[in-house]
Amino acid sequence: MEQYVIKGGNPLVGEVKIGGAKNAALAILAAAIMTDETVYIDNLPDVRDINVLLQAIEGIGAVVERINRHTVKINGSMIRDINIEYEYIKKIRASYYLLGALLGKYKKAEVALPGGCNIGSRPIDQHIKGFRALGAEVKIEHGLIIAEAEELTGNHIYLDVVTVGATINIMMVAALAKGNTIIENAAKEPHVVDVANFLNSMGANIKGAGTDVIRIKGVEKLHKTEYSIIPDQIEAGTFMFAAAATKGDVTVKNVIPKHLEATTAKLLEIGCEVEEFDDAVRVVASKPLQHTHVKTLPYPGYPTDMQPQIAVTLGLSQGTSIVTESIFENRFKYVDELARMGGDIKVEGNTAIINGVQKYTGARVSAPDLRAGAALVIAGLAAEGITVVDDIVYIQRGYECFEEKLKALGAQIQKVSNESEIQKFTLKVG
Ligand code: UD1
Repeated sequence: MEQYVIKGGNPLVGEVKIGGAKNAALAILAAAIMTDETVYIDNLPDVRDINVLLQAIEGIGAVVERINRHTVKINGSMIRDINIEYEYIKKIRASYYLLGALLGKYKKAEVALPGGCNIGSRPIDQHIKGFRALGAEVKIEHGLIIAEAEELTGNHIYLDVVTVGATINIMMVAALAKGNTIIENAAKEPHVVDVANFLNSMGANIKGAGTDVIRIKGVEKLHKTEYSIIPDQIEAGTFMFAAAATKGDVTVKNVIPKHLEATTAKLLEIGCEVEEFDDAVRVVASKPLQHTHVKTLPYPGYPTDMQPQIAVTLGLSQGTSIVTESIFENRFKYVDELARMGGDIKVEGNTAIINGVQKYTGARVSAPDLRAGAALVIAGLAAEGITVVDDIVYIQRGYECFEEKLKALGAQIQKVSNESEIQKFTLKVG
């Protein structure tokens, strides 16, 4: 099991380049099998979730050709299996996108109920509601979701909750259904827009993505395309808070500043300076950080995937902050870990009450999930002394070259895999 060992206390300074959006890429890779022609996808992040999904896609017979670390060619003409194995599915949640992709293309799909980060109960009732509305019969048997349709027909679908996954999944199926579909109360996240743009580049007819009403005119079939994935706003936001928590000065490059507005607004509120460029943002934290309140909401609200990172930063800010998690109920699991580092956070239901402390002190902590893991690394970078973060496999699901990028900003961090490597690092950094 690999760990990160960190000697905290260095302000992060310099430039960091952000990769492609993991959550957009996962849906786009699944959607790529919806045509029999070859699809070329660029700006793919080289992270575990993506590689697992590519394996699953290969596993059902699609041809996956890795051109380089960030570029892949996919041809879905040879798919022979519409059943996705449990072993793959258990690892990543977004494998449910294969349900939409296969159902849309072959009118039949069998996918094991998804796994992914344990951040709360994650129902898929809205996905199922959408598939049924488009004419599919859906049943759950022996841990598999089985969806089948004689014909897929457009419909008017009102989502009961704003969900990224269901919006994208329904959009994929409707792209190849007969007639018109309207999705109301749709998610507006940048990756919903990216997937719609991708499908449109393959010949789909999707309008309104990025608003809460998406209109889809079904087409007969989709064709080849070349597409570059948008930058990852969560990776970018993570580095922005790492800059704030370590009192640093970091320019985060290759981003779309508009997608970072909720994060930028909070950084300004707590006393950072944020400078926006065309495709970069610079975060400077030269003054003492101040408290604030934040509530996670669907886009354009403050993202739930950025909740642990802001909480860890507010833990070092003056005064009392309140963080309310309104999307996933089990997303404060890092709080106990942070307490071991001297954090003063009390959780009541879906609210964390954070009393800012002067400093964190290094300790041995465990990453409970992807984003919370990244947040604990931020805490370690800001802390006095040595922090060891266990279970970094979660972090590797979504951050490419995390420690290399942090090192380039002046962090003292190393990936290790045993106690003697931890000791060596500790002796080296003194
Ligand atoms: C995606 C992201 C995840 C992010 C989340 C919210 C991927 C792979 N994951 O997850 O990182 O935290 O969006 O931005 O892209 N819900 C239902 N029924 C459903 C579907 C969802 O009740 O059928 C609820 C969920 O429990 C949650 C809320 O809707 O409370 C939002 O979930 P959703 O947007 O679907 O999240 P995911 O697509 O799973």
